[in-house]
Amino acid sequence: MNLCFHDYHPQSDDLRRWTLTGLAASPKQLPPKFFYDATGSRLFAQIVEQPEYYLPAIERGIFETHGDDIIHRLGLDGCILIEPGAGCGIKVRFLLDRARPAMYVPMDISAAHLRQSASGLATDYPWLPIHAICVDHTKPFELPSEIPNERRVFFYPGSSLGNFDPPEAIRFLGDLSRKAGPRGRLLIGIDTKKPAAVLNRAYNDAAGATAAFNLNLLRRLRQELGADLELGSFHHYAFYNERLGRIEMHLVSRRDQRVRIDDTEFVFTTGESIHTENSYKYAPSEFQRLAWEAGWNAEQVWLDPREYFSIHLLKVSHQTD
Ligand code: AVJ
Repeated sequence: MNLCFHDYHPQSDDLRRWTLTGLAASPKQLPPKFFYDATGSRLFAQIVEQPEYYLPAIERGIFETHGDDIIHRLGLDGCILIEPGAGCGIKVRFLLDRARPAMYVPMDISAAHLRQSASGLATDYPWLPIHAICVDHTKPFELPSEIPNERRVFFYPGSSLGNFDPPEAIRFLGDLSRKAGPRGRLLIGIDTKKPAAVLNRAYNDAAGATAAFNLNLLRRLRQELGADLELGSFHHYAFYNERLGRIEMHLVSRRDQRVRIDDTEFVFTTGESIHTENSYKYAPSEFQRLAWEAGWNAEQVWLDPREYFSIHLLKVSHQTD
């Protein structure tokens, strides 16, 4: 099989350390990367099925409407296609069904997911050399030496960039522009700013998938860290913070309580929350400006008719350091 697996063991940077630091901070917080254990990944797969969570359907629609143009401008044939946060490896199939990159490099923090999705792709696209890298792509890392340096194309769909705050996003995009090299390109999906009611519904679906996904973090703290907390003593809270242009997700304590982890006790007052995620939304010109600061020039942007979602094509302009 045309598949090579590089494991950088990202999980060793662990939940315990982040939790002890994050719950001692004020306001309390946990990074969203810990949502995605096996249960969390299953719950996320439910989120993307919810009718209120418009992002995947609209992104797919843009690909379907503008696919030929996207593929043509991207110049995928013969390039090195790199996907940070590849997840289940579904979206890339749209590209692989229409063009022939010289190599595909999926990266994901979950080794189990990555192995499964990469071997599925290796079976379905036998002509394609695959180098799967298990890594926390939110931290600086170097690509293995087997990845050729010429014509790298980064693919980052799904608006995952929204989890970074703007300075982090610039750092991350700058890291990609350095890795992409002089002829490099980036194809990235970005959720746009839109009426708050639409955004609030997307993160408060009626079936409760997003709530379950958020609350799953507490189950992890119980099971993996032995935290003595009751799941029912917190509730899911998500809202669009218009001033900061982001959805915020929180786990809100329903009562005054103390939570013990190891030898440390964390005090919660009623209504106090753990801030678990930000999801930034960018108007097209706003995102282009952010990307420009990270060494990317806008080439093209595709939108749906309501402008609910955007797919940007960018090329490396200059190296930032
Ligand atoms: C995977 C980061 C794009 O921000 O919309 C979905 C994660 N959180 N519902 C997003 C998420 C709650 C999602 N991203």
